[in-house]
Amino acid sequence: MTLSSAPVLDLYGEDFRARPHEVLGSLREQGWYAQSPIGPAVLRYEPVQALLGLRQLRTPGADFLALQGITEGLLVDTMRSFLLNSDGDVHQRLRRLVSKAFTVRRVEDFRPTVRAHADELIAAMAATGEADFVAAFAEPFTLRILCEFVGIPEGMSLEVKRWAEDIGLMFGLSVTEHAPRIEAALLNLHRFIDDLIEARRREPRDDLLSALMAAEESGDLLSDAELRAMVITMLSAGQGTTQHQLGHAMVAFMAHPDQWQLLADRPDLAVNAAEEVVRYCPSSVLGVPRIAKVDVELQGTVFAAGTCLLPITGSANRDSDVFENADAFDIGRKRTAQLTFGGGAHYCLGAALARVQLQEALPRLAASLRKPVPAGEADWLPPTEAVYGPTRLPIAFQQGSSQ
Ligand code: HEM
Repeated sequence: MTLSSAPVLDLYGEDFRARPHEVLGSLREQGWYAQSPIGPAVLRYEPVQALLGLRQLRTPGADFLALQGITEGLLVDTMRSFLLNSDGDVHQRLRRLVSKAFTVRRVEDFRPTVRAHADELIAAMAATGEADFVAAFAEPFTLRILCEFVGIPEGMSLEVKRWAEDIGLMFGLSVTEHAPRIEAALLNLHRFIDDLIEARRREPRDDLLSALMAAEESGDLLSDAELRAMVITMLSAGQGTTQHQLGHAMVAFMAHPDQWQLLADRPDLAVNAAEEVVRYCPSSVLGVPRIAKVDVELQGTVFAAGTCLLPITGSANRDSDVFENADAFDIGRKRTAQLTFGGGAHYCLGAALARVQLQEALPRLAASLRKPVPAGEADWLPPTEAVYGPTRLPIAFQQGSSQ
């Protein structure tokens, strides 16, 4: 297959917006990659996994800003400072230092806190019989957890979330229009984080920020600017992704009531259920694009240096060569590594925290909200967004017995 003979993935078409998995499924039947307006979109599991591990590729960094005419200034500097956009030795150094603080052990120690927040929010919601699942649970749950984990004082969480959302506009395609708003949010967040760093320097706590400040390798520490960028990275990468993942989960379970009942009856399936949700209805279908630094060969096809390749992880996760009955939502399925958290050097740093949130929340929700059904129009971010999902999800349910 050559690029000109590859099928076309119309990312901006109505079909993809409405039924992304069906569109990807039909393209996957035709070949392992398709042409998209951004570049070749890789669709099958094996080449997506290979692509994520290739060192001759880099993440786009500030390229999408440059395409919009923004080549210098605060937005470009900020974009380049994100862990995801660093490359090679620079990335390796940052990742090694951050990984000393953001450990699986720290996340596991935090599990009881995650459970307590889930219990509290579910109890309040369960008493009502009807709720906007996003406003009543998915958003406050993920926001509280991320802020507490990182070390953001509770009273500031909403303000910080608003700044992080404005900063998120930097990843879209209408940055020029939003530039003043994004810059204002960045300056506010910088001031706030700098004060927080000072406070932790005087009095360290048991939170990620204090651990990041203490993370050291052979005398090397993160600078204040790197710490600031790291906190902004966590806030941008950690909340919406997990909030929307929970929203998708509720939608999938409402469409598969037998699976909801199964989880209520078998809370021991929590780990499997979390994995299946992330595979079947990921909050990021498209995955993170990669740019070829040199000519790269994938499955016998050469892509020229400079090509933007899209590893469509949401499509790879439905590849029937790897997942039996791939289009079925089955929390009891044999576990196979889904690719929603990416792969290779940039593999999601927060995957363990996201998993713990899903593993704790889903069985508790299933036990407390019986027979949930949609109760009105939901509002959605489209699948073309880096992170997508319902922003409003009205549901009705019967009150269940707690576990
Ligand atoms: C369901 C929730 C989540 C999803 C679907 C998700 C997805 C991703 C993806 C696709 C990547 C890029 C991987 C690649 O290109 O190879 C990534 C990277 C990253 N994620 Fe997540 N993520 C989630 C939750 C979180 C959380 C909770 C945090 C932090 C609190 C987090 C922090 C990060 C960071 C810092 C990176 C950059 C890693 C690097 O470049 O080395 N993520 N995530």
